[in-house]
Amino acid sequence: MLESLELEKDPDNISLSAQNIHKYFGGVKALEGASVVVSKNKLISLIGPNGSGKTTLFNVISCWSPKSHPDDLLEEDEVKIQKRFLDGINRKFGGKEESEETPSEEVGSVDFEDLRLDGLNAHEAALTGMMRTFQTTRNWPKLTVLENLLVAPQHQTGESFINIFFKRKQIEEEERINTLKALEILDFLEITHIRDQIGEELSGGQLKLLALGRLLMTAPRLILLDEPMAGINPTLGNKIMDKILELKVDSTIFLIEHNMDVVFNYSDEIFVMARGKIIAQGTPNEIESNKEVIEAYLGADY
Ligand SMILES: Nc1ncnc2c1ncn2[C@@H]1O[C@H](COP(=O)(O)OP(=O)(O)OP(=O)(O)O)[C@@H](O)[C@H]1O
Ligand SMILES: [Mg+2]
Repeated sequence: MLESLELEKDPDNISLSAQNIHKYFGGVKALEGASVVVSKNKLISLIGPNGSGKTTLFNVISCWSPKSHPDDLLEEDEVKIQKRFLDGINRKFGGKEESEETPSEEVGSVDFEDLRLDGLNAHEAALTGMMRTFQTTRNWPKLTVLENLLVAPQHQTGESFINIFFKRKQIEEEERINTLKALEILDFLEITHIRDQIGEELSGGQLKLLALGRLLMTAPRLILLDEPMAGINPTLGNKIMDKILELKVDSTIFLIEHNMDVVFNYSDEIFVMARGKIIAQGTPNEIESNKEVIEAYLGADY
């Protein structure tokens, strides 16, 4: 099971496919050929010890960080690295290769539905219908909690100057609907009392809740959640997980989580990561019964 992973799934039903991803930080091999295939409208969890590469994989998938080439570890030669970069550009735009040498082969890919993601920047990737939350939460520090929710929905009519001029009524209606939705979300997340507090004044748990609120304001087709439960009280955490389950109707959820009760209760499938690779995958029952893998790679406490 460790060596040959069964990655074949119904191709029409795949939300995300990341294949053979490498990521190096100097000599640190954070990812060493990690591959995941995530089916649509499922909740898939990614588990593994601290430092195993989970957040790094999310960073590459969401284009916050470019993947590495396996040669990057061996090559200190700047000229070769630059040549590979130029070869990539020439391949993309049909230009001539830089030298007579065989062009370096591209390694690894990230596809979201029928879109190739690797090569995009984080902003472009965010416009494809994918959204992520961060392990260390980010927000607009000078905006209030309510305003933070209101800036989340994308493609609002009011964003273009021409639209502002001609479509005042439609903009007002959209704002009214979004405000009602934001107020409902604040109530659901039990943070109505801090709606006028600015982002930089919030506690760690409140920041996590705000990040989830921003997510609930939009309707992404793929949601990447990096430890959304950390720092949130368990009762509210379960309520949020129930809400996230409801999102499966329209969205696919890919979750990094250390809380094994959450992972085993809510996941359709679990990926286990260790030292930058996926070492096992399966339904909660399959993973639970694979005690050797759990104990060998995650420790008996898991
Ligand atoms: N920006 C960076 N610079 C250098 N090393 C990094 C960087 N980001 C991650 N790493 C290293 O890559 C490895 C994987 O880190 P990553 O954050 O992906 O782990 P993780 O599985 O998310 O862990 P955790 O469960 O603790 O969040 C670690 O050894 C880490 O030190
Ligand atoms: Mg992490």
